[in-house]
Amino acid sequence: MNAFLRAVVRLGLNRHGVPVVGVRSGYSGLVRTAKLTGGDVEKVNQLKAEIELNPGMAGLIKQDQYLIQMDHRSVSGIMGKGGTLLGSARCLDFHKPEVRQGVIQLLGELGVRALVVVGGDGSLSGADRLAKESDLRIIGVPATIDNDLQFTEMALGVDTAVQTLVWAVDRFIDTARSHRRVMVLETMGRESGDLARMAALASGAEMVITPEGGPLTEERMASLAAQIEGAMTRGRGHAIVLVAEGVKTEPPQTRNRAYVLTDAFQRYFQREGGPFPDLEVRPSVLGHLQRGGHTTPADCMLAARFAEKAWEEIMSPTSQNGITALRNNRVEIVPFGVEAMPERAVQSLAMDHLHADLANW
Ligand code: F6P
Repeated sequence: MNAFLRAVVRLGLNRHGVPVVGVRSGYSGLVRTAKLTGGDVEKVNQLKAEIELNPGMAGLIKQDQYLIQMDHRSVSGIMGKGGTLLGSARCLDFHKPEVRQGVIQLLGELGVRALVVVGGDGSLSGADRLAKESDLRIIGVPATIDNDLQFTEMALGVDTAVQTLVWAVDRFIDTARSHRRVMVLETMGRESGDLARMAALASGAEMVITPEGGPLTEERMASLAAQIEGAMTRGRGHAIVLVAEGVKTEPPQTRNRAYVLTDAFQRYFQREGGPFPDLEVRPSVLGHLQRGGHTTPADCMLAARFAEKAWEEIMSPTSQNGITALRNNRVEIVPFGVEAMPERAVQSLAMDHLHADLANW
């Protein structure tokens, strides 16, 4: 997010000579500001004066200022820093058409011509609504560790989250090896298994369980445990199992998947007459660890390329609303609501096969 922010600000100022206003806390910052001004000319003028009075760092320091005139210095040194300098927030209010109308009016009063929205599914749906309801040029930019936006091969943040997961697996392997244990690690990803499968392929984890592979039933969990036991019988000493948070269970359970699987595996290994009754299984839910940390070079480069494409579209005489997407390693603009790339599902399946063959013992 920060690498993108830096790129979009610097390209606006350096290449296109267009001023860039940063919005703190996403839609929620816009909604708050629209509510404060409420179309009142005097209040809008006050807001304009405040934006002018506190540009760059001065604006960023003022916690109650939501719109900030960005300058070179305000995005200096943020390239590899996780999170976002401008902050982010979920904004349920933005689902209301009258609230969005207030925001559209505010942006009009400020003379804003284009809005660049960076985020996942929710943020891009909001951007799609704005595109339909206003004359603003709206460009969406996919950023989510889930990689569940099927119109792009990669979203911003995925590569960094995969790197963090590989780092985590490396650390769990030490105990797994020395204590001859099975470690069950739960990754994020919502309904998508992409984050887990990429991390499995890149880390060498022995097993990966994704939502696309179907629900976890008692029989399926026993069969997965039997696979691990089989490998142990053939001489393998430990196993790292990645399970994506979005995997369904049958019957449905609210417990984290790492705990559900751990209990099922442990029951299987301790069954009457099993060869490894002492084999221990340990769960870990990796959680928000996956959303932070130093941004990878691949993510920083993709951020710069997405920012360049966003500006190219905004400045084009035939400019259209749309979302930046990585397709066949080229950055393109695709329309809001575009269909999924069929290749995405094929690629995920291919990754699963590749992982299965690499991990097979
Ligand atoms: O969509 C990104 C994501 O990190 C998901 O993988 C995860 O389920 C969710 O967000 C966590 O959201 P929150 O930070 O609101 O708990």
